[in-house]
Amino acid sequence: LSQQDLAGETVLVTAGPTQEELDPVRYISNHSSGKMGYALAQAARHRGAKVILVSGPTCLEPPPGLELVRVVSARQMYEAVMTRAEGCSVVIKAAAVADYRPLLRNGDKLKKKDDNLTLELAKNPDILSQLGQLNPRPLLVGFAAETTDLQNNAAAKLAAKNLDMIVANDVSQEGAGFNVSTNIARLLYRDGRVEPLELMPKTRLAELILDRVGQLLQNKGRA
Ligand code: PMT
Repeated sequence: LSQQDLAGETVLVTAGPTQEELDPVRYISNHSSGKMGYALAQAARHRGAKVILVSGPTCLEPPPGLELVRVVSARQMYEAVMTRAEGCSVVIKAAAVADYRPLLRNGDKLKKKDDNLTLELAKNPDILSQLGQLNPRPLLVGFAAETTDLQNNAAAKLAAKNLDMIVANDVSQEGAGFNVSTNIARLLYRDGRVEPLELMPKTRLAELILDRVGQLLQNKGRA
């Protein structure tokens, strides 16, 4: 029997990549498969939480018993998350959101012309940063996908986005990060604590993250 330690909580999880369209047939995206976020959503559901899964395009089967909101672009994910965040006790942002989108989306398929083509990009809204400014705000768990200086970069994101916890993964390591079933993570907290973890299945990492979320919620309740 699973532990129902998140009963009564509403947990919003984002998963997968975003796609930023250039024209009707092309987009800019990344290698996120959604596995990390889907594992978190399923684990939160098993622990008794009401779960909202905001998912970018993935091939994964949605876990049963949760509210699935499908989005494509970062701006759609922003809308989907911000309109639902107020009712949530926890938001976990495992999605790999595109920081930029093509400034212009061509209505028709772009034609091949010169040797080089320059694309102008516009900045997307940072969903986590906006969530961090809500008052009151849900418990916030971010992810940091890094290829260099993992801990410092993740600590900077934790502070800048006003998070409770950040899951740092060095996505250049084998068995970690995008589009694999395992991950190697380091959990960083507001008080400076760092918890380095071994390579493990994303399903196991999801359970571990939710154990910590449960503890943080308890501490918040006592504060
Ligand atoms: O989906 P999988 O194949 O299982 O891969 C899992 C993963 C590698 C995608 C996941 O473990 C991960 O690291 N997700 C975060 C990827 C990412 O976008 O990291 P970032 O360092 O660029 O962003 C930091 C945090 O801010 C993230 O929580 C991200 O969701 C959030 N963000 C980023 C940009 C933006 N515009 N809005 C955001 O909310």
